[in-house]
Amino acid sequence: MRDAIAHLPASRIREVANAGIGRSDVLAFWFGESDEVTPAAVRDAAAESLARGETFYAHNLGLPELREALAAYATALHGPVPMQRIAVTSSGVSALMLAAEMLVGAGDEIVAVVPVWPNLTAQPAIMGGHVVRVPLVVRDGAWALDLQRLLDAITPATRMLLVNAPNNPTGWTLARAEQQAILDHCRQTGTWIVADEVYERLWYGQEACAPSFLDIAADDDRLVVVHSFSKSFLMTGWRLGWMVVPATHLDAVGKLIEFNTSCAPVFVQRGGLAGLRDGATTVPALAARMRACRDRLVGGLQQLPGVDVASPRGGMYAFFRVPGASDDSLAFAKRLVADHGLGLAPGVAFGDEAQGWLRWCFASRDPQRLDDGLDRLRRALRL
Ligand SMILES: Cc1ncc(COP(=O)(O)O)c(C=O)c1O
Repeated sequence: MRDAIAHLPASRIREVANAGIGRSDVLAFWFGESDEVTPAAVRDAAAESLARGETFYAHNLGLPELREALAAYATALHGPVPMQRIAVTSSGVSALMLAAEMLVGAGDEIVAVVPVWPNLTAQPAIMGGHVVRVPLVVRDGAWALDLQRLLDAITPATRMLLVNAPNNPTGWTLARAEQQAILDHCRQTGTWIVADEVYERLWYGQEACAPSFLDIAADDDRLVVVHSFSKSFLMTGWRLGWMVVPATHLDAVGKLIEFNTSCAPVFVQRGGLAGLRDGATTVPALAARMRACRDRLVGGLQQLPGVDVASPRGGMYAFFRVPGASDDSLAFAKRLVADHGLGLAPGVAFGDEAQGWLRWCFASRDPQRLDDGLDRLRRALRL
């Protein structure tokens, strides 16, 4: 086996979750998904596709009608994005992997803004790349970017910058001025930006979505933007995503899709189309429900003495510190499961930079679950 694979760390979220498997009394908030089922219209569209017998291979890049719909969706949010820049992928994580396969060779240097969902940094490592981690910093209890530190880390030797905003796990989001500075700098150094914007619609600012690199970049910038149906369309189990690349690179992505998954299943794509069709109402409604969950959970956490938490502007996670978890958030999270039936993700799962923190996914259909979880945390902290 290649060393790079042998040395891949196992998921420490799973390590906690495995400790709770088989226990019906555990309130689980450890994974990044809502407990709401996919809307019926999406499920019906997929079922009808199967009933019609759409069970065959499809185009590598996705159904043309889905790519067209995605182009219209992206254009409405960010200005012109033609379908000639869009590939449909079998999930957001697959899109990220395709980007790594397209851009990263053995020995290449990659800069990543961390802490971050661990898949982002594992993928270039799988390709033999060397990942330089640039940590966000905590200012007044909230995570923030040290822009100069990031720009200093990106040199002409940097092949790719990986940035996920709104960020999983911290909720940190790039400001427009920071995006512009990063884009200008990467144009100078010739560095590709791979922007993971899967949480752009789970945004609690005034705008319809978080700031995107698509708002400011030119069509031919070295930019890959990764998206997913998982979060804003409640479709985690469907494995459907898409990516925006320069039109010059679309054929290369198509070739890579051929060698990875060949295509996304047609009935899944039909579901995605239905999701987009209804998205103008379903996505803002979901974001409003998520905002209510955020306010309920963060408000509750802020009332606990010693708990350090900031309200995230995007995403579906509260990221916080509690007394007692500072040295070993993994052990603390395991104790929470074993002794109190509360399932959270340990901060260290997202990098050593987040040691001592805990992540709580607040995407809950029934907000009472959040209150029950808060009660359990209160008991665990003996409050
Ligand atoms: C930051 C980030 N990017 C990408 C994904 C991938 O989503 P999916 O593979 O379900 O489309 C996730 C899922 O948790 C995520 O948190």
